[in-house]
Amino acid sequence: MDIKKPYIIVFEGIDGSGKSTQINIVYELLKEKNVKLLREPGSTEIGDRLRDILKSQKLDPKTQTFLIEASRTHMIEKHLKGFDGIVLLDRYIYSTIAYQGYGFGIDINFLKALNDFAVDIYKPDIVFLFDIEPRAALARLNREKDVFENIEFLEKVREGYLALAREYNFYILDASKTKDEITDFITSILRQHRIF
Ligand code: TYD
Repeated sequence: MDIKKPYIIVFEGIDGSGKSTQINIVYELLKEKNVKLLREPGSTEIGDRLRDILKSQKLDPKTQTFLIEASRTHMIEKHLKGFDGIVLLDRYIYSTIAYQGYGFGIDINFLKALNDFAVDIYKPDIVFLFDIEPRAALARLNREKDVFENIEFLEKVREGYLALAREYNFYILDASKTKDEITDFITSILRQHRIF
């Protein structure tokens, strides 16, 4: 018997890279299909509570890691298990490696093992990395910044993402381009993968 598994498309990038805008556009374009739009941390009642805690307090990185992984496993349990449609995911396992690993210094191999344990068979099929200079990204966030949002920290996170992109073959897009150019790039890749 085949296990039901969704097709998982992940959007990654530093804060202010514009990934949330684009994921919403793609969601609208795919709405006729069996598609879910999810984000991490969050997407469940418990996950949203963990998200509020993570964004509002300066927690030590180990505690962050376990709260994020808890949000992740709960989201998989609630939304991915038994679902065989398309999942658009605003952040996933690579955020933990980039932020808690490259950003805060938690051992990368330990985080990879933890992620593997958390996601099990629910590995990403396609990953888009929204690459942008932290200065430009933060300028876009025209609001009060949360605990993850400062330039030196985001430089490290960005380098981490670029290393991961080489290791795992992400599609890297230049997030300083216009909204339409980025949407065109994403849709052309999704067409190649027969999503449209
Ligand atoms: P984000 O998804 O960027 O939402 P918003 O647009 O509301 O800022 O915010 C989530 C924050 O959580 C972001 O700053 C990165 C952080 N985060 C981690 O540090 N590690 C993780 O594994 C995940 C999923 C998020």
